[in-house]
Amino acid sequence: MKLVIPGGTGQVGTILDRAFTGAGHEVVVLTRRPARDRELPWDGRTLGPWAEAFDGADAVVNLAGRSVSCRYTPANLQDMMDSRVLSTRVVGEAIAAAARPPRVWLQMSTATIYAHRFDAPNDEATGVIGGDEPDVPRYWEYSVRIAKAWEREQKRAATPSTRKVALRAAMVMSPDRGGVFDVLLRMARLGLGGPVAGGAQYMSWIHERDLVRAVEFLIDRDDLAGPVNLAAPAPLPQRAFMRELRSAWGMPVGLPATKWMAEIGALALRSDTELLLKSRRVVPGRLLDAGFTFTHPEWPEAATDLVQQIRAR
Ligand SMILES: NC(=O)c1ccc[n+]([C@@H]2O[C@H](COP(=O)([O-])OP(=O)(O)OC[C@H]3O[C@@H](n4cnc5c(N)ncnc54)[C@H](OP(=O)(O)O)[C@@H]3O)[C@@H](O)[C@H]2O)c1
Repeated sequence: MKLVIPGGTGQVGTILDRAFTGAGHEVVVLTRRPARDRELPWDGRTLGPWAEAFDGADAVVNLAGRSVSCRYTPANLQDMMDSRVLSTRVVGEAIAAAARPPRVWLQMSTATIYAHRFDAPNDEATGVIGGDEPDVPRYWEYSVRIAKAWEREQKRAATPSTRKVALRAAMVMSPDRGGVFDVLLRMARLGLGGPVAGGAQYMSWIHERDLVRAVEFLIDRDDLAGPVNLAAPAPLPQRAFMRELRSAWGMPVGLPATKWMAEIGALALRSDTELLLKSRRVVPGRLLDAGFTFTHPEWPEAATDLVQQIRAR
């Protein structure tokens, strides 16, 4: 296969590039700063020579978007929105202009589109879209607004020969340096991997191997289109999630943190507490219905596998 991955230089792109190149497929990455073979320059907002890479490609997987691990200032939120909406728009234009358009366009979205809730899991059919939950900071609504605008942009693209799938991905857990697992494990190793603000908020996650397998599955399955949750079937409260991570590493203590302590930590890490405090309870309804099976469905085993990979390097 030939795959084009706009925004493929980051955490998720590195995982997909490694897996698909390793399996003998041809992968082209679009980036604002090409540095290696197989990387083409683009600006994420205007058509250019890069669009020729779409001609005859089998699949496009668009991952472009400003990192969400930042302070949610008005300028950063606007950048998060624009980088996603404009890159999705121009990817749609490139697909529409291709003489031989790709068969499928997998567009990154996010599990954050669902409401902050504890009572029941969100699947694609019955899940509650967020944005007007009571008792959450008002600015959390903006992340949902970004996710909706992101999906809307793909939906409205005029690409009749290309199947469109929106990937509502949960946190992707891989042993790579700088990834979310690496950050959480470092906290745990420092003795800081305890419950945050009580720890009842759910963590949804997916192991990198299952992310790759789900992407392969969605490329192959011509009958699947629209939003698909990419999350392991067993999300768990943050308190239990961190306890299992500590146990996988062999760290007996994990100091609890209050909301205010989390706020100070997030400030120090130039990140935002929404990433820690929003309850993301998301399950892969459509993948399971379609017969997809997870290699790492449960967190304790997945965490052990990731820790072993880190210890082995
Ligand atoms: N990692 C996760 O757990 C996770 C979970 C759910 C959803 N997602 C979403 O999946 C996508 C990829 O995630 P990731 O973790 O790989 O993110 P990442 O490491 O931040 O990489 C995103 C890529 O987007 C490109 N980019 C950044 N700002 C841009 C802009 N203004 N215009 C065009 N391109 C821009 C960057 O490529 P260049 O700098 O090379 O141009 C970067 O490599 C993101 O949209 C993220 O929100 C990630």
